[in-house]
Amino acid sequence: MTEIVHTVAELRQRVRAWRAAGESVGVVPTMGALHEGHLSLARRARAECGRVITTIFVNPKQFNNPDDLKKYPRTLKADASLLSSVPVDIVFAPSVDEVYPEGFASTVSVAGVSEPLEGRMRPGHFDGVATVVTKLFGMTEAHRGYFGQKDWQQLQVVLRLVRDLNLPVEVVGCETIREADGLAMSSRNVRLTPEGRAIAGVLYSAITAAATDIRAGQSDRMAIREAAEKVRAAGFERVEYIELRDAGTLMPSDDPRRARRMLAAAWLDGVRLIDNIPV
Ligand code: PAJ
Repeated sequence: MTEIVHTVAELRQRVRAWRAAGESVGVVPTMGALHEGHLSLARRARAECGRVITTIFVNPKQFNNPDDLKKYPRTLKADASLLSSVPVDIVFAPSVDEVYPEGFASTVSVAGVSEPLEGRMRPGHFDGVATVVTKLFGMTEAHRGYFGQKDWQQLQVVLRLVRDLNLPVEVVGCETIREADGLAMSSRNVRLTPEGRAIAGVLYSAITAAATDIRAGQSDRMAIREAAEKVRAAGFERVEYIELRDAGTLMPSDDPRRARRMLAAAWLDGVRLIDNIPV
């Protein structure tokens, strides 16, 4: 049975007993409103770890838009019942005061990899992510942490952070889970209108076509420009960026011998969608 735990003290008690018995612990950090993408991480953790904790915490420090924070779906009951089907051992769902008690004064900031793309568009976002992920690793004492490639830049920020701070946790990056039309699953997708939902898959198909063209020898710039045009023509309000970057550093890269990633962010129905693929 999945148990819901709200305090760090209760969580530590459970985890210490597991660790004393020699069990490995996996953590899947989430903000809830769970879908198949999240559940795939939990299932992978289930397969690889003796014990699994899923954390559900809508982290105010990583929202640079107060309206987005307010509108973020909160569905703890439904989430807990989905997680018992995996099953995970514990759902850790702390309050904001439990995570950031009065007097809280520390920030974890990862330079470089957190600065371009999402970092530029959402100032402070990755400081919030790095701070809460560091705390969640400390609270759960997990041996492994599971993250989705859906948020590629976030995954690179967490990898950098773990290396830089010698955190004793292995970060596992997991494949992006998609709808049948290619749209990457996201908790924000429910905010799309039926009309928006019908065209949302174009973001993925456009960057996939661009990646194919680049591999076939088309210039990076031309392929990216065509992808952006397709996305706009489909009915997206705005393409924020479509960029080809070094997969690890997220710096601009025109060297096809290195692992590169195409990353995109675009607005549809007032919803900001992001996606990325290998090139
Ligand atoms: P959230 O958006 O809830 O995502 C939780 C985890 O699920 C992240 O690692 C994310 O990359 C992964 N995920 C989301 N959609 C996915 C999909 N379609 N396929 C595969 N994995 C997917 O990301 C966060 O929360 C927060 O920033 C968090 C790391 C919890 C820190 O607050």
